[in-house]
Amino acid sequence: MKPRIAIDGPAGAGKSTVARAVAKELGLAYLDTGAMYRAVTVAGLRRGIDFEDEEVLAALAAEIDLAVEYSDDGQNIIFLNGENVTETIREPVVNRHVSLVARCPGVRAVMVEKQREIGRRGGVVMDGRDIGTNVMTEAEFKFYLTASLTERARRRRAELLAKGQTLTLEQMIEEIAARDKIDSEREVSPLRPADDAIIIDSTEMTIDEVVSLIVATVTRGNAGGNT
Ligand code: CDP
Repeated sequence: MKPRIAIDGPAGAGKSTVARAVAKELGLAYLDTGAMYRAVTVAGLRRGIDFEDEEVLAALAAEIDLAVEYSDDGQNIIFLNGENVTETIREPVVNRHVSLVARCPGVRAVMVEKQREIGRRGGVVMDGRDIGTNVMTEAEFKFYLTASLTERARRRRAELLAKGQTLTLEQMIEEIAARDKIDSEREVSPLRPADDAIIIDSTEMTIDEVVSLIVATVTRGNAGGNT
């Protein structure tokens, strides 16, 4: 069976870009699990729900029709009740609410089930917060990708600027720190490295360097230990 690769880490560490490039180089599928929580968030915003109400959130996650398709360049295309929401899920209002959705146990149960189903087929790179610790504990390779808060905010800000959204670095630091706090402190599957994850601090690394390091590790076939 082709390998399963888990890439976890905090917001803005470059997980999605790295995971997609690794998948492409190794001929594996790519699943962006964060996009799934983001799609539930979009559904909630459209209905004007109370994001503190866990019952409403869980019911919403169970009820919506969420589908992931793969474009030729390996991007995930996300459909919410048949509508392509790939762009919508990246909007700032979604960033501000997604961690409230993702901390709800009922929402996680539905999403994790879908993710495990995809993981069982093997040959996949999945990125998120709990892939190595919960979704694919049996993954052959686990990486935890991080970087300093300022560097992560800088990278995320550059991404948003390219899309015409202007936020100050301070605003970006605040938003990312708030999300990290909720993600790390929640009761169900909080953000943390798996015991057997290879930790990569990319503060001083380029995306290409991170991709090469992961591809080389997988190709050599040795998992475990820190860089
Ligand atoms: O790309 P970015 O790091 O901004 O975040 P993302 O991967 O799109 O994930 C958005 C949010 O979904 C995170 O802040 C978490 O609250 C949640 N998430 C999660 O709880 N578990 C996952 N496996 C993936 C994302």
